[in-house]
Amino acid sequence: MIFSMKRRVDPGKRAAGRSAVEMVEDGMVVGLGTGSTVFFAMERLAERIEGGLSITGIPTSYQAENRARTLGIPLATLQDHPSPDIAIDGADLVDSHKRLIKGRGGALTREKCVAHAAERLVIVVDQGKCAQKLAGVVPIEVLPFAVLPVLRCIEDLGAQPVLREGSVRDGPVITDNGNFILDCTFPAIKDPEKLEIILDATPGVISSGLFTRFTGKTVVIVGKADGSGAFNL
Ligand code: A5P
Repeated sequence: MIFSMKRRVDPGKRAAGRSAVEMVEDGMVVGLGTGSTVFFAMERLAERIEGGLSITGIPTSYQAENRARTLGIPLATLQDHPSPDIAIDGADLVDSHKRLIKGRGGALTREKCVAHAAERLVIVVDQGKCAQKLAGVVPIEVLPFAVLPVLRCIEDLGAQPVLREGSVRDGPVITDNGNFILDCTFPAIKDPEKLEIILDATPGVISSGLFTRFTGKTVVIVGKADGSGAFNL
């Protein structure tokens, strides 16, 4: 193994991740999200594969790909399977309408591609991620060529954008797609659908961490803090 699989075991995340795998059936193509909660779903998938389940995973990041390979989950790409049966992914914040903020891990663009392509989207979170309304930091992936004009557009929308910097390297974080991330603090988000459209239509923005268009096919699974189980939002 050339990368770390170390993580803190959060009982709520574990309960949510493992519970989501109950929705996976033999023969399915499964989008594999990025982050610590999905990792528990991948562990459970690996157990079921060991028991005879046959699935194909579509990873949303190098992290997801590396972890899935280590766990022995067969992989393919969206080119092989443009319409996955289901995608399992985490989120940073979920509101009561199942609208999401994603992208803390910087994988938002590929996650949005897989969420859009999939028949169903299963979001796995712990209870701390649930809120009445979306607010706070919205990560936005930006073409380095256009980072300053985009930054100004975001300021004009009333947000405070900050270029994400690495903790173990000097300079900006570079995404799996070779771009920068702006972490944009919005004091309030009155109309998340409209904001997503405005952000995603800004030249230089690759995609925003607002996921408002998938609510009709989304199931949100919330893990109880004590790890005793999970429930649907
Ligand atoms: C990755 O870019 C993110 O969208 C993650 O899916 C999100 O941050 C959830 O991560 P955790 O499951 O680690 O909290």
